[in-house]
Amino acid sequence: MKSWLVNISRLLLAVVFILSGFVKAIDPLGTQYKLTDYLIAMQLGSYIPEWATLGAAVLLAALEFSLGLFLLFGVHKQLTSRLTLLMLGVMTPLTLWLALTNPISDCGCFGDAIVLTNWQTFLKNVVLLAMAVIVACWPEKMFRFVSESNQWLVTNYTGVFILVVSAYCLYDLPLFDFRPYRVGTDLKTGWQKMMEGKDSPYADLFLESMDTGEDLTEQLLCDTGYVMLLVAPHLEQADDSRFDLINELNEYAREQGYAFYGVTASSEQAVERWREALGAEYPFCQADDIVLKTMIRSNPGLVLLKNGVVLGKWSHNRLPSLDDERASQPLNEQEIGRRQDDSTAKKVAWILGWFVLPLVILTIADRTWMWTKWLRRKKKQEKNVSFNINNKEKIMRKKIVAGNWKMNMNLQDGIALAKELNETLKAEKPNCGVVICTPFIHLASIAQFLDQSIIGLGAENCADKEKGAFTGEVSAEMVKSTGAQYVILGHSERREYYKETPEILKEKVLLAQKNDLKVIFCIGESLAEREAGKQNEVVKAELEGSVFNLSEEDFRKIVIAYEPIWAIGTGKTATAEQAEEIHAYIRSIIAEKYGQAVADDTTILYGGSCKASNAPELFAKPDIDGGLIGGASLKAADFKGIIDAFK
Ligand code: PGA
Repeated sequence: MKSWLVNISRLLLAVVFILSGFVKAIDPLGTQYKLTDYLIAMQLGSYIPEWATLGAAVLLAALEFSLGLFLLFGVHKQLTSRLTLLMLGVMTPLTLWLALTNPISDCGCFGDAIVLTNWQTFLKNVVLLAMAVIVACWPEKMFRFVSESNQWLVTNYTGVFILVVSAYCLYDLPLFDFRPYRVGTDLKTGWQKMMEGKDSPYADLFLESMDTGEDLTEQLLCDTGYVMLLVAPHLEQADDSRFDLINELNEYAREQGYAFYGVTASSEQAVERWREALGAEYPFCQADDIVLKTMIRSNPGLVLLKNGVVLGKWSHNRLPSLDDERASQPLNEQEIGRRQDDSTAKKVAWILGWFVLPLVILTIADRTWMWTKWLRRKKKQEKNVSFNINNKEKIMRKKIVAGNWKMNMNLQDGIALAKELNETLKAEKPNCGVVICTPFIHLASIAQFLDQSIIGLGAENCADKEKGAFTGEVSAEMVKSTGAQYVILGHSERREYYKETPEILKEKVLLAQKNDLKVIFCIGESLAEREAGKQNEVVKAELEGSVFNLSEEDFRKIVIAYEPIWAIGTGKTATAEQAEEIHAYIRSIIAEKYGQAVADDTTILYGGSCKASNAPELFAKPDIDGGLIGGASLKAADFKGIIDAFK
């Protein structure tokens, strides 16, 4: 249930972040304009230079897009979930403020692609914030599409891709144009509708001659010939490096009888300065600043109209050049005189080819690699028939039989049992490590006489706090001070009856290790989970929730005990095959997380109704390295019978 919730939330967040990041990234100038609107609304407009707002726009879009991708692939789970939460934690109150005070009519979260009202945006953010909280609470529940060792490829490729796309769109024009002046738009009809009082996005479209003051809108939109508009919202900041090309275009237009106008929102003085500095001989019209910024995302940029229809747009970096041959031909005989190829399908194919496809190939390769690795391991184990309990040379990891007394034995009985075991095993040295984990009260007394070179001593639990006012608790440091070396953590009885969560266990593991205690960490599924086929998912989440945060060095100190809850104390044992299957799986996810060498060295015990009669078969399996024994550890003879399985 939790896992479903996390994964649905993470996928929805991913879709929204990818979409909104992408539409912003392909229109860096548009995003910068929006950011500036926000700054002005907050009265910060004059403090931040333009280059900074542009840089912030590009980085913000790249961050949003990348977070979306990471959520989709389930990589860098902790960092991604926290950053997503942080982003929505900032955006939600900000959009509430926008909705309440309305300083900007459209928040711009999806650029110009989808326009939402401020209240819609706020509600959207509330829902997303709730999802981000869910994901941040259980980030480890996100399933990943790419293994940890290859996730750097997704991270770097995404970052490079989105920054390159942004840079390209800044140099040229937005990859997709969602505004009402896109190539192919019939401005004349739209404008006429507006003049008739109908709803139209061209309410502010007026082009007024700066020489005569005459309104030229109708004349330019109804011109059946070509009209070239050099659109420069602000001449003061316009890029004038291509002035020679612009002048050539003007000359060509004059020769061919086409209208050529500079269009700006700047003052007459600015136009004068432009003319003088660049030898510009074309007439200028004045128009609304926002209209011009909407028309073309370039300052200056060229817009070609014919009969009021937008035929083409060029940024100042990509102006069409006229060689001698072209300069003598009219536009209708040339490529640039025809409607620009603005095919969406082509652009989508480009994105699929350059971005989606490589990532799909990477995912398939990664999954295949992981799968073959797992197969190879399995095969190696099968081939390695001698890899059994009698061949100590090949067995690198430690074999252990550990007793878990649970809440049994008073002090005197416990001491008597420990003494008996001590004597027995001193007389007949075991072929494996032996540990007894006892109630706290036994520890100090047993530690006095137990030969810990033969039998290790451990507690069954420790507190998740270091020290202080926690009545009834026993800290890891206290356990250590008794002379014990081990501690069992995460036993299903503690998880179930004392509500120990993965977070609490994570703390306990850290404190135990801080005090040099060796942790026997228990994992295992319930009957319902086994019947639903979820055992792998459960053990993986338990490891991820409490011990996969450890460094390799610290993880190497952990002993894992797989104990299916339905087999504990019930007399029902998992079959040796069932146990081996899941032990091999546990080893494979350890390998995925820490590498094969660590996985090969990790001791994984089986627990749950293990006794002298079934121990030999269980322990003979290549991935079962011993047992954690409850009921059968309460009598020296029974326990010894299990230890003898390693003979
Ligand atoms: P059991 O218990 O051997 O009595 O089934 C095992 C355990 O809980 O550790």
